[in-house]
Amino acid sequence: MKLLKGNIIHAPTLEKLETIENGALLLEDDGTIREVLHAAPQDFDGRVYDCSGQLIMQSFADMHLHAPQFPNVGMGMDLPLLDWLKTYTFPVEAKFADLDYARRIYRRLAHDLIANGTTRVCMFSSLHTDATLVLMEELENAGVTGFVGKVNMDRNGGENLEETTEESIRETRRWLEGCRRFRFVRPIITPRFTPACTDELMTALGKIAAEQNLCVQSHLSENLDEIAWVRSLHPDCAQYWESYDKFGLWKSHTVMAHCIRSDERERTAIREAGVVVAHCPDSNINLCSGIAPVREMLNEGIHVTLGTDIAAGSSLAGSRMVTMSIQASKVRSFTDPAHPAFLTVPEAYYLGTTSGHRYFGAGSGFTPGDRLHAVVVDDRSFTETPWALSLPERLERALYTMNAANITAVWSEGRLVHTHEAKSVREHRT
Ligand code: GUN
Ligand code: FE
Repeated sequence: MKLLKGNIIHAPTLEKLETIENGALLLEDDGTIREVLHAAPQDFDGRVYDCSGQLIMQSFADMHLHAPQFPNVGMGMDLPLLDWLKTYTFPVEAKFADLDYARRIYRRLAHDLIANGTTRVCMFSSLHTDATLVLMEELENAGVTGFVGKVNMDRNGGENLEETTEESIRETRRWLEGCRRFRFVRPIITPRFTPACTDELMTALGKIAAEQNLCVQSHLSENLDEIAWVRSLHPDCAQYWESYDKFGLWKSHTVMAHCIRSDERERTAIREAGVVVAHCPDSNINLCSGIAPVREMLNEGIHVTLGTDIAAGSSLAGSRMVTMSIQASKVRSFTDPAHPAFLTVPEAYYLGTTSGHRYFGAGSGFTPGDRLHAVVVDDRSFTETPWALSLPERLERALYTMNAANITAVWSEGRLVHTHEAKSVREHRT
C-alpha cells in the first residue's frame, strides 16, 4: 500500500466540489485508489508521498486536440476556420510524412502534456499511419493515456494532405493492426469532418467502427461557412449532425468538438444519441467561431467535456482550458439573455477533469477502485495573500495562475509519471 498526503480537491459531480484539508489518498501498490481519507494515519507501514501543504488535484482530461498542429501553437490566428485550415494547418500537418520530425515533435508534446497535468486525451493525429503510431508510442512512454485517431481525409485537403478513398480505408486497417501493441493509448475512428470525407469513406469508417467496436470523434457546427458547406454537400440532411448519422458515426461515445451553432434540435440529437461534446473555448475565440451554449447543454443533460483544440487553441495547459471555459461563458452570459448563469470555478474544474475522465470509464472524482489520475500543485509560494485562503479559493487561484513550474508530481493510471521540484519553492530554500 502507498499513501499520498496533502490537501485534496476533487469534483465528484458538476454541483459538488469536495475539499479535504490534510487528507490522504490510500493507494494499492498498482496505484488503484483504496480510500479517500480525511486524515493521514499516524503509523503507516508503506511508501508515503508527503505533499503536505500542497494541493492534490485531479489531473486534466483534454478531450480535443490536434497533435500535428503543435508546432503552430500561438501563430496564425488571424483567419476564420476554413482559411486557417488551408493557410496554416494543412501545411504543418503535411510535414508529418517525415517520421524523424514526427518523433521530435511528438516526444516534446507528450512531455509537455504530462508536465502541465494532462493525463487523458482524445486526440487527432494527421492522416499518416506511421507518424500516428509514433505519436501513440511517445504518449504511452510519457504516461499520457486515452484515445488517438489517425485522421481520414480523402477530399478537400489540397495537394499534400489527401488520401484516395481506397488508401484511407486500407491505411486505417493497417493502423488498427499496429495499435494492438499499446496498452493505455487506444484507437478512435477519426473522419476529420464531413467536408474532408466522401460518402464512400464515411460508409467504410462507420462499418469499421461497428465491426471493431470503436468510438468515433470529429468536428461539428463550429463555423457558419463550414455549416453551409456541409449543407451543400448533403442537401438531404436538415442539419450537420445528420451527415454523420447517415453513416453510423453518430452514436453513444462519439466525441464532437465545438457544437457552437448546435440549436435545440441538434442538441436533442446529441443528448438522445449519447454523443459527447468537447467544448474548446480558447480555439473558438481565437478563430472568431463563437461561444458554445454550454449552460443550455448542461441544463439539457448533455455530457460536456473540455478541449484545448491545439493549435487553434493557443495553450496546452489544462488549467487554462478550465479558466477559458469560465471566461467564455461570462462573455456569452452578457451577450445572450438566454444564457444567464456563467460557469463557476467548481463547475469548470469538473468539466475539465471528472467529466472527461468519466468518458474513459472513471468514477466521480477520486473514486475507490479507479487508478489514480492526479496532479500535485505547489501553490505555497504564490504571492502572499492578505488573509488565509480556503481550499476552494486556493483552487481558483491555482487554476487561474499556475503553470508547469508549479506542478510537482503527476500520477497517471496509478503510476507516478512526473516529478519536479517547484521552482519557486527551490528558490525559497536557497
Ligand atoms: N475542422 C476540421 N479540421 C479542423 C481542425 O484542424 N481544427 C479545427 N478547429 N476545426 C477543424
Ligand atoms: Fe479541432
